[in-house]
Amino acid sequence: MTTQQDSLRAVPGCPFDHDFLADPFAGYGRLRADGPVHRIALPDGSPAWLVLREADVRAGLADPRLSLDKAHSGGGYKGFSLPPALDANLLNMDGADHLRLRRLVAQGFTPRHVEKLRGPVQAEADRLADALAARIAAEGSADVVAGFSQPLPLAVIGDLFAVPDADRPAFSGWVATMLLPEDPRQIPEAVRQIHGYFVDLVAERRRTPGDDLLSELIAARDEGDRLSENELVSLAFLILLAGSENAQHLISGGLLTLLRHPAQLAELRADFSLMPETVEELLRHVNANQTAIRRFATEPIELGGTTIPRGDTVMLSLASAHRDPARYTAPDTFDIHRADKGHLALGQGLHYCLGAPLARMEIDVALSTLLRRFPNLALAVPAEELAWRTTFRTHALGALKVRG
Ligand code: HEM
Repeated sequence: MTTQQDSLRAVPGCPFDHDFLADPFAGYGRLRADGPVHRIALPDGSPAWLVLREADVRAGLADPRLSLDKAHSGGGYKGFSLPPALDANLLNMDGADHLRLRRLVAQGFTPRHVEKLRGPVQAEADRLADALAARIAAEGSADVVAGFSQPLPLAVIGDLFAVPDADRPAFSGWVATMLLPEDPRQIPEAVRQIHGYFVDLVAERRRTPGDDLLSELIAARDEGDRLSENELVSLAFLILLAGSENAQHLISGGLLTLLRHPAQLAELRADFSLMPETVEELLRHVNANQTAIRRFATEPIELGGTTIPRGDTVMLSLASAHRDPARYTAPDTFDIHRADKGHLALGQGLHYCLGAPLARMEIDVALSTLLRRFPNLALAVPAEELAWRTTFRTHALGALKVRG
């Protein structure tokens, strides 16, 4: 059988072959030592520039000449696309359009919302941890991904939009199919279901506003301006996508990292006030998101000594940046006390993650809850049998079996 990874060997110039994906951080290290910017083929065969040094990735993220709008792609963008009604989102626009939308959305994404969610996030984390404990008691081990790190962020998005309890199983099912389908041909139907659901939910909240993010987005006004129907639904969809997968990977990858570093884990267990700096180091070190959103040069731009022509695709590698020895001492070492703190895991500049405070709170609550609930938590499988799901975009655990 030919796997997706094996078939990458057939794409000339694509560095993300089987060997690369088996250990992507080592792969990026080899490429970085070879040069700061590489002309590559993406797995779909389309050409792109891969930017590897931290200083260049940081500069690229904040450079307005690198556009997120597909309209600026010179060769015609052929990568992942959502249906037009879902494409009016922040990660597909820049300049004045982006600023206008972001200003309106920020009105709903307030610290007040994040604080309001802390109680429900903790309650959901406790409920899932109880279920995990019951499974471990019955079967000897349990999967943290299926039983905890996947459902928790989804429940948080459900709370953010006040999705009624009765709708949550169907909603979770569509999202699970969209993100991890048994067959990729199931994805368009799952996207259609979620789109239809958000259209109905927006209509319902227009009739009966509540105290949720969607109602606040509907009500948001900026000098007479307001969000259109497509913008509202696209935003809900983006928040769902951005808020569920990333947080899931940080929780499961974060837990694995802690289990692999028993001395720092013991220190954390003895003093949970170390959690905020632990979360920051996990954001740097785990880095499931291997690259930022693809960008397109709106004019010739120099990055790392290479001039990138107008219209070309640019991939800014967050994973490589976070392991760049020019930026970090011992970059591969996980160290919650490192002096050279900081990371690009939540982006930089105008597209900086809108959900950053929520993400930080969620990861903190999730990991604190697991560590408090399971004082003897340990891996239930040898490290070499861990189920990694790695593509050139994501390096994440598909399952994480533990015993308590
Ligand atoms: C650990 C969890 C998360 C990580 C690692 C993460 C990472 C990122 C990154 C890297 C970007 C910038 C992309 C780029 O410039 O190429 C971004 C943007 C964004 N994120 Fe997050 N994110 C996380 C959680 C969340 C959550 C929980 C939400 C909402 C509920 C969210 C909503 C967004 C939105 C709306 C944007 C677009 C902002 C804009 O374009 O102005 N994210 N995120």
